[in-house]
Formats: sequence, structure tokens, C-alpha cells
Amino acid sequence: MGTITAAFTPKLGEATTLRDKAGVPFVVRAYDPRFRDELQRFYEEFEPKRAAQGLPPSHPERIRDWLDDVLGKGINLIALRHDELAGHALVMPTSRDGIGEYAIFLREDLRGRGVGSEFGRVVVAAARANDLRGLWLTVEPGKRAAIRTYEKAGFRFIPQTVLSVEAEMEIDFTDVEGKDE
Ligand SMILES: CC(C)(COP(=O)(O)OP(=O)(O)OC[C@H]1O[C@@H](n2cnc3c(N)ncnc32)[C@H](O)[C@@H]1OP(=O)(O)O)[C@@H](O)C(=O)NCCC(=O)NCCS
Repeated sequence: MGTITAAFTPKLGEATTLRDKAGVPFVVRAYDPRFRDELQRFYEEFEPKRAAQGLPPSHPERIRDWLDDVLGKGINLIALRHDELAGHALVMPTSRDGIGEYAIFLREDLRGRGVGSEFGRVVVAAARANDLRGLWLTVEPGKRAAIRTYEKAGFRFIPQTVLSVEAEMEIDFTDVEGKDE
């Protein structure tokens, strides 16, 4: 059963071309180290800082340390628009065997165009293809756009958490009924 303890390449081929709601293409591909500097710049320019669970960090040094940590494990996918890095999605190992924690960050000018929804579906497919048992995340209940993209990728709220400051959502790939829309 899949345990994500080391970095690996998602079984997605080299790159996948998707389209936003206006039909403009963007490319999703596995991160590789040649994008390291561009990813650092992406997060230095990212707004708002600390948007989700304190991420991304505010200061360049903290961003560097955080990237050193996350890029060495789990699944890291990037989105490219016109060959510029414009998004990063992560599935990080958790203390639960085979369960990954999902997070996604898009450049501000790309938001609200359907990119997060399409990108999210690819991340979920990559997690499934890498034999994970499921995905999990926390989200502030007021983050409607984020929640909507999570729901469209197949996440569902864990009922006992919906009134919390940080609600929890999950996808169980072992659920034979299936939860995808
Ligand atoms: C959260 C994020 C990934 C969403 O991606 P996105 O590309 O902006 O989202 P999309 O355009 O694909 O979809 C947004 C959906 O939410 C809906 N939505 C937007 N604002 C909404 C609101 N206030 N209430 C309800 N739904 C809302 C949209 O209508 C759309 O749903 P639809 O396609 O069914 O119409 C992106 O906005 C982002 O990176 N934000 C900053 C970082 C962050 O908060 N990351 C998440 C935590 S890790």
C-alpha cells in the first residue's frame, strides 16, 4: 500500500495540458529541480502570504527551508502558463500510512478561471495512481473557492469537523462506492 515517504515522479507522463474556463491552455507536470529558483520566486511574490495553515511562509529564508523540506518528499506538481511557473500543488506524507495531505497555491492572476479545479483533479489522479489510500486536508470554512475546487476533485467534509476553525476534508480511494463527481 502506498506510503509517501520519499520523492517520486507521479505516473502522469511528462506533462498534461489542461484548459481554463476560457479555453486558455496551461500545463501540469511533475516538479523537477530545474524549477527550484522559479518556485522560490513564485512564493516570494505569492499573495496573500500564510494563506493556508501559515503557508506559504512570509520570508525568503523560510520559503527556502519549507521548499527544501516539501520538495524532497511526497508528490509535487507545478502548473505552467505560457512557460511561466504559475501554480504548485503538493501531497505530503501524514502520520497515517497511505494518506497524503493536499495543498495547492496558484498565482493571483490565474485564480477564479477554473485552473484550481482542473489542477486539483490531476493531483487527485496522481495520488490515486501512486497507490495512496486517500487524501486529507484542512481548510477554513470561509474559503469558499478553495472548498469548491476540493469538492469538484472529490473531497468531502469530515462531518464532525465542519464547525471547527479548520474543517477537515478527505477522499477515501478505498471506498468502492466512489466519491468522485
Ligand atoms: C484556492 C485556489 C487553489 C482555487 O483555485 P481557482 O482556480 O481560483 O478556483 P476555480 O476557478 O477552479 O474554482 C473556484 C470555484 O469556487 C467558486 N467560488 C468562488 N468564490 C466563491 C464563493 N465566495 N462562494 C462559493 N463559491 C465560490 C467558483 O464559482 C468556482 O466554482 P464553479 O467552477 O463551480 O463555478 C486558488 O484560488 C488559490 O491558489 N488561492 C490562494 C491559495 C489558497 O488559498 N490555497 C488553498 C489552500 S492550500
